[in-house]
Amino acid sequence: MSALLNDPLLRLRPMREEDLPQVIAIEEAAYAFPWTLGIFQDCLRVGYCCWVISLGERVVGYGVLSVVLDESHILNLCIQPEWQRRGLGARLIQRLLSVAREHGAETAFLEVRVSNDAAFKLYEGLGFEEIGRRREYYPASQGKREDALVMSLEL
Ligand SMILES: CC(C)(COP(=O)(O)OP(=O)(O)OC[C@H]1O[C@@H](n2cnc3c(N)ncnc32)[C@H](O)[C@@H]1OP(=O)(O)O)[C@@H](O)C(=O)NCCC(=O)NCCS
Repeated sequence: MSALLNDPLLRLRPMREEDLPQVIAIEEAAYAFPWTLGIFQDCLRVGYCCWVISLGERVVGYGVLSVVLDESHILNLCIQPEWQRRGLGARLIQRLLSVAREHGAETAFLEVRVSNDAAFKLYEGLGFEEIGRRREYYPASQGKREDALVMSLEL
């Protein structure tokens, strides 16, 4: 296990409006097609489960989950590039899945770019299974589109 996971400064907590500058900086560093500030503000406003993972006051990752009846959907999961591959993404998604269960969800769904090996391996390692493909779901470079794999996990 990565030593970082035992760091006493490591915290998981609900996202707050004042985290958004740090969240957006990570989003823009980690994704070629980042969400906007307005999308995160909407996620907080409509009551999605938005969580951050932090080292003290420093946000190093975040995730966004929606739960409707017995279905949950992981809408975003992101770790700051410098802090990737130390177990934080796995720790964060496990918390999101616990939150989904606490809200009564029985299944978790997510989409992932076909090219995103890191995320696919993370999800597969947690037991998510590929259940479908959405054609040309994501924007890609040079005006092209990229397919999404749809994955699900029974909670
Ligand atoms: C996907 C992401 C959240 C993973 O977070 P992370 O903190 O780096 O992942 P972890 O260190 O917890 O890794 C857990 C497991 O995921 C897999 N994994 C993570 N990154 C990987 C990589 N670059 N290559 C291969 N496998 C990888 C491994 O199975 C790993 O277990 P291991 O370290 O024991 O081999 C992170 O890469 C990220 O933020 N990427 C940019 C945003 C993104 O693509 N989000 C997903 C959108 S669907």
